[in-house]
Amino acid sequence: TPIERIRNFSIIAHIDHGKSTLADRLIQVTGALSAREMTSQVLDSMELEKERGITIKAQTVRLSYTAKDGLTYELNLMDTPGHVDFAYEVSRSLAACEGSLLVVDASQGVEAQTLANVYQAIDANHEIVPILNKIDLPAAEPERVKQQIEDVIGLDTSDAVEISAKTGLNIEGVLEALVTRLPAPKGNANAPLKALLVDSWYDQYLGVVILVRIKDGRLKRGQKIRMMSTGAVHAVEQVGVFTPKMLPMDDLGPGEIGFITAAIKTVADCNVGDTITDDRTPAAEALPGFKPSIPVVWCGLYPIDADDFEKLRDSLAKLRLNDASFHYEPETSAALGFGFRCGFLGLLHLEIIQERLSREFDLDLIATAPSVVYHVFKTNGEMQELHNPVDMPDGSVIDHIEEPWIKATIMVPDDYLGSVLSLCTERRGQQVDLTYVGNRAMVVYRIPLNEIVFDFYDRLKSVSRGYASFDYTLDGYAESDLVRISILVNGDLVDALSFIAHRAAAETRGRQICGRLKDLIPKQLFKIAIQAAIGSRVVARETISALSKDVTAKCYGGDITRKRKLLEKQKEGKKRMRQFGKVEIPQSAFLAALKMD
Ligand code: GTP
Repeated sequence: TPIERIRNFSIIAHIDHGKSTLADRLIQVTGALSAREMTSQVLDSMELEKERGITIKAQTVRLSYTAKDGLTYELNLMDTPGHVDFAYEVSRSLAACEGSLLVVDASQGVEAQTLANVYQAIDANHEIVPILNKIDLPAAEPERVKQQIEDVIGLDTSDAVEISAKTGLNIEGVLEALVTRLPAPKGNANAPLKALLVDSWYDQYLGVVILVRIKDGRLKRGQKIRMMSTGAVHAVEQVGVFTPKMLPMDDLGPGEIGFITAAIKTVADCNVGDTITDDRTPAAEALPGFKPSIPVVWCGLYPIDADDFEKLRDSLAKLRLNDASFHYEPETSAALGFGFRCGFLGLLHLEIIQERLSREFDLDLIATAPSVVYHVFKTNGEMQELHNPVDMPDGSVIDHIEEPWIKATIMVPDDYLGSVLSLCTERRGQQVDLTYVGNRAMVVYRIPLNEIVFDFYDRLKSVSRGYASFDYTLDGYAESDLVRISILVNGDLVDALSFIAHRAAAETRGRQICGRLKDLIPKQLFKIAIQAAIGSRVVARETISALSKDVTAKCYGGDITRKRKLLEKQKEGKKRMRQFGKVEIPQSAFLAALKMD
């Protein structure tokens, strides 16, 4: 295809506004797949994604469309994930395109993620076409929502396209808008090769597959390519595009998006954002890259059955093959045994990995409370990145501690504004802005990330009856009065239950955990003290009274089989026990104590 007839675009939208439905329609209308091949939603290929209805991995598909001007155009659709945790993946998908379709549900209007995504598209210099979806719904108010888009985002909506992705109404209007309103890519086929490495993943049959966007030059089968960040050289084995099926090609030219394989062993060798060039006639300069994605939330993952440790290690390695933003390292805990400290982009990312481990790899796991990365500045001038509360150095060598903050944007109907504001205040939030979009308030707050990771999202949903939408970006580190709360059972430290909190909340949280443990740890033959301490100062205490009864006494002496059964049951239970000094604590107690409510 000549470059002037290529259009590269992404679809950006708030969750559930119809991005995947529209993508499927576009694929269907352009005839890329037969009706038989259309599964419910083609682009969300992972089973888990389908179930949760969230698009995780950026994917791409090439469509061929003959426009009203009689010419045939090549349309490359880059899918983008919709959730805040994956903002980084959104930015790299956008960098590979010239324009975006901004899909807004005409019965809902602009939401927090609509804004976050559209600002990223504006940053990427995209031409943006507003699309009003779901106009088949009786509650659709396209005029009001257009006004909202103009007021809040400042986009001209006089040419906005009104559609129903569900019924297929006016999909052609979308295709025509792509052709007439988005710019063609620019590039020089005769210049040295410059291709942007947009994404890479591990395929069971092909090995590592790399998604590229060609800027200049051509990328051919058999060509020797060089990764500009590492200097590594590979021979290209396959070149092709997704239609969405993999379709082999001889080469890719400027403006095109496609995939290559080159016998590369792991995705770790393919840095997203890197520039791929020709080994013999390399480009002088690399394309502007991306900032690497860094995990912001960490937690420990431990197998409930210690025999599963190797299986867990293998499973984590497999997940990491396809997800360079997921990190893990071995860790041991007196309470939980051998496990791994794992890093995630956010809470959703954590949940997804945890669910995949249990579902795809059949592992029963305990996760410790999620923790953010603190910066501990020591009196000797060193800075320590703290991923695990257990590693907090002694108070005497700490000068000060900094914690990560976020800037949160929340959109909520006026009726629930009061409760949302008190929730933000309760979480140490600082108000930055409060404006109105129609009868909905848009509040911007700075909040410590630490206050978000536990249950903020659930609480926000419940205080707003599900009407609030939420998005955030990281917003630097700031000093704070943070302390570690240690939990002691009979004087012995239970490492897995240590956590870091703001001093003002430390006592209350310590008391909660002690109270909960009191009910969870079974009585033993002696009195047990459960304490929460900050340094050496005990801030909360509960006591479990002693038990003297013999459990077998219940069995009226006579029935021997029953007695034996009971003893066996006890033995079974022992396997799931952890020893702390003299005290045995059932594993289930940790599980329950770690659960936040
Ligand atoms: P994520 O993948 O979670 O980001 O959501 P999405 O934006 O891709 O939304 P999706 O396409 O999954 O659509 C969400 C819901 O809206 C689904 O139940 C669709 O059937 C429905 N839907 C999408 N488009 C329309 C439309 O034009 N009209 C109506 N009535 N429903 C629609």
